[in-house]
Amino acid sequence: MTLRKLVAGNWKMHGLSSDLAEIEAIAEASRGYPQVDVALCVPAILIERASRAVPGFAIGGQDVHHAEKGAHTGCVSAQMLVDAGAALTIVGHSERRDAQREQDSEVKAKAEAALAAGLDVILCVGEILEVREQRAAVETVLAQLDGSLPEQSATGVELAVAYEPVWAIGTGKIPTTAEIAEMHAAIRDRLAGSYGPAGETVRILYGGSVKASNAREIFAVAHVDGALVGGASLRAADFMPIVAAASVDR
Ligand code: 13P
Repeated sequence: MTLRKLVAGNWKMHGLSSDLAEIEAIAEASRGYPQVDVALCVPAILIERASRAVPGFAIGGQDVHHAEKGAHTGCVSAQMLVDAGAALTIVGHSERRDAQREQDSEVKAKAEAALAAGLDVILCVGEILEVREQRAAVETVLAQLDGSLPEQSATGVELAVAYEPVWAIGTGKIPTTAEIAEMHAAIRDRLAGSYGPAGETVRILYGGSVKASNAREIFAVAHVDGALVGGASLRAADFMPIVAAASVDR
C-alpha cells in the first residue's frame, strides 16, 4: 500500500518571534505540494503564535506530559497543546529518551494522552551506534515499539512512527538504503501484528540527517512514508526541496 507522504520538521530548541516569517514561508510554499502533508513541530512557547500566523497549516509540539493536569512544574499537557493551536506532537524523541531518561512506558502514556486529546502523534524510536554495530538494531527498535506503542491504533487522529537512528541525528551520516528498508519493513510487520489491517496505514517516517541531497533516495525506499527533519527544516530554502522530493510519484 502506498501512503501519502508526511514531511515534518522538528525545530528542537530553535525558534523566536523573528522566525515566524520562515514558518510563513514554509506554509506558503507547502501549498504548492498538495499531495504531501507538511508539518512543523516548534518549541511549545511558539506554538500559539505560529498557528495563528499560518492558519490551516499543521503546527505541532515536540513533547507532551502524560497527565491531564496537576503538579508538574514546567510541563505541558496535551490539552494545552490543543488549546495553543497544535495539531500534532512528537513523543519519545531520542534526545528526550536520553537527556530526560524517558522510558518506553512513559512514551506510551504520552502517546495515549496526546491521541486522546485529539492530537496526531509522531512516536520516535531508534538505536544507538553500538547497537547497530552489534547487529541488534532491528530487535532493539522492535522492543522499543512494543514498549511504547499506544494500546489501540487511533481513530480520528493519526499515529505515525519515526525511525530515527540516534547516530544519524545531526551527524550527516545515514544508514544505507538497505538498512532503512530492513528496519521499515520490520516496523511495518510489527504495526500490522499490533493493530491488524489498521497497522498498514500507520505512516513510518525516516529521520536523521535528511537533506535535499539524500531525500529522493530515502523516499524511494519501501515503507518510507515520509521524513522527520531536524536541522534542514529551519529554513524554507533547505526544507522545501525535501518536500518537493516527497511529492515525486514512484
Ligand atoms: P537532523 O535532521 O538534524 O539530523 O535531526 C533529525 C531529528 O532528530 C528529527 O527529529
